Amino acid sequence: MQKLLVSLGERSYTIQIGSGLVSSLGTLCNELVLGSTAAIVTNTTVGQFYADAVKASLENAGYVTHLIEIPDGESYKNSVTLTSIYDALLEAGLGRDSFLVALGGGVVGDITGFAASTFLRGVPFVQVPTTLLAQVDSSVGGKTGINHALGKNLIGSFYQPSLVLIDTETLATLPEREYLSGMAEVLKYGVACDGEFFRFIADNVENLRSRDMDCLKEIIRKSCSLKASVVERDEKEGGYRAVLNYGHTFAHAIERLTHYTAYLHGEAVAIGMVQAARLSELKGYADQHDTKSIIDLLKSLGLPVDLVHFPVDDYYRALLKDKKMRAQGINFVFNKGIGDSVIENVSDWDFLLQVVRGEV
Ligand code: NAD
Ligand code: GLY
Repeated sequence: MQKLLVSLGERSYTIQIGSGLVSSLGTLCNELVLGSTAAIVTNTTVGQFYADAVKASLENAGYVTHLIEIPDGESYKNSVTLTSIYDALLEAGLGRDSFLVALGGGVVGDITGFAASTFLRGVPFVQVPTTLLAQVDSSVGGKTGINHALGKNLIGSFYQPSLVLIDTETLATLPEREYLSGMAEVLKYGVACDGEFFRFIADNVENLRSRDMDCLKEIIRKSCSLKASVVERDEKEGGYRAVLNYGHTFAHAIERLTHYTAYLHGEAVAIGMVQAARLSELKGYADQHDTKSIIDLLKSLGLPVDLVHFPVDDYYRALLKDKKMRAQGINFVFNKGIGDSVIENVSDWDFLLQVVRGEV
């Protein structure tokens, strides 16, 4: 088992990574003194695989448990589902001596974290992420929330978990497309934060595609460690945390233009990383070899790299809606070579849009 610390003063917590860790969940919760009753929030897909094991682990450690199942899908990350979680917690009579366990991918993690941050003015919660994306990104760092009809993740809070327990065996049931989509976020860390990690990923493509456990544990550990250090430096995204949005400006535009149906998030991020790499090259922050290495690695990981064709004006309008849009322009993350990055406010739309005009 690997153990990492996210060091945030009184909000510090550990990330535990290993095979078969679900069976240790109850014991680890005991060490944290979280309360006497645990509400496990999961969805119908993940619940069928792992809810019994999570429940057994908690009950063997002396907890009373309640299972709350929500429907599966991003479209359920909303206020209706959130209310159904509050209803279930209240009907079960849970008080401030209870805690929540988020068992699932980023959707379950985000909505459960937000429920925990608001239920009875805040009770602890534990993340048990079961997608690669959730294990390397969304379960760490305390961004919680739900979507609004006017946009994704518009309602939420910064609320850190008390523990992140990553059982790598849960990835065995994850569909291939979801798995590869998570890999785009792994590669993001390499390009934006750590060149040695980028080369490790490049050297281990076959192992990663065959889900070799040792290799997976290493990339999850490294991703979590990089995310933890970014969050420790800038917990509430005053500035620096935005490096984690590398590739996300065009990804969000593509997701909006395709109505969130054509691409999984990581797939859109893969395409967005290619646009970010091209713009970084144009800025002189990177060279053509860097861009080629990024594109080649994305392709070898089975991820899409080609821009989706929409009129330039459609891209302009989609980019304007970006949350990272400021009055003056967009806070864009450029890669400096491979392994470093810089955030700059870009107000020159011609510069940004040349990648969608097919000029480069
Ligand atoms: P998801 O939670 O929808 O999970 C993807 C699919 O995989 C779902 O159908 C789910 O039921 C299924 N699944 C999950 N684990 C499984 C397993 N082990 N075996 C079989 N099937 C499994 O999607 P996601 O990609 O994990 O997360 C996306 C969400 O995360 C978005 O809502 C996004 O906004 C959010 N997010 C949050 C942060 C953050 O910092 N909080 C960061 C990135 C993304
Ligand atoms: N996934 C981006 C962040 O946590 O800030």
